[in-house]
Amino acid sequence: MENLGKADWDDPERVKRLAASYSQRYGKTFWHTLLKLTGPERRETILDLGCGPGLFLLDATTRYKAKRVIGLDASEAMLEQAHHFLAGKLEESNTLLRVVDFDSSDPGVEPNTIDLAFSGFLLHEIRNPEGLLPHVYKSLKPKGIYAAYEFVSGDLVSFIDYMKRGGMSEADARRRYPHMCKYSLAQFEGMLRGAGFSRVKSSLIDVRAVFVGLKAEK
Ligand SMILES: C[S@@+](CC[C@H](N)C(=O)[O-])C[C@H]1O[C@@H](n2cnc3c(N)ncnc32)[C@H](O)[C@@H]1O
Repeated sequence: MENLGKADWDDPERVKRLAASYSQRYGKTFWHTLLKLTGPERRETILDLGCGPGLFLLDATTRYKAKRVIGLDASEAMLEQAHHFLAGKLEESNTLLRVVDFDSSDPGVEPNTIDLAFSGFLLHEIRNPEGLLPHVYKSLKPKGIYAAYEFVSGDLVSFIDYMKRGGMSEADARRRYPHMCKYSLAQFEGMLRGAGFSRVKSSLIDVRAVFVGLKAEK
């Protein structure tokens, strides 16, 4: 299948569009859902896989009172924008932004160091999400949580409606559906359990879902 998403993440226009659409994608409902699933308590170190322009990390730093953030992304242009948005938010040494392509490398995060790992609209982009998740699991401290935000398959009509509301044509939405809604919620939950996560929970937000898994204390 043609990979509709991958080729142009370094395109400055795409970086701009992604940043501009952040508040619509990560609005009140998203934060209410995420905080309900993770709990509101402090998360000192937050990892964002596929952080894009870094706006989730910016918000999450405040919401979870983080001290240290790590953003990983394959796109240098995205990380440059993230650097700009995050400048001055935390001490410089506590903001780590690094180029990593999950299709060819491990995240390279030290084991047992992360309190909250997150990925937004990443898992459908990469070749092998099942291969990435055990690394995410390993990076978490015991009682650490991984949360993901993704489109899910199963409702083409609602997906088209959602994308049309964002200004996309019906034809484009239909073309994008197999790429953006590659997995069902049950498949995502299965991937988390397969990687070792327990207490897997999820919540649907129209055609998107937030799902979380816990690294239990041994
Ligand atoms: C749809 S964007 C989402 C960005 C951000 N999480 C957000 O929601 O605003 C997907 C991000 O994943 C990154 N990405 C795509 N494929 C990747 C890969 N193989 N390894 C690492 N990052 C990748 C892109 O550069 C882009 O920043």
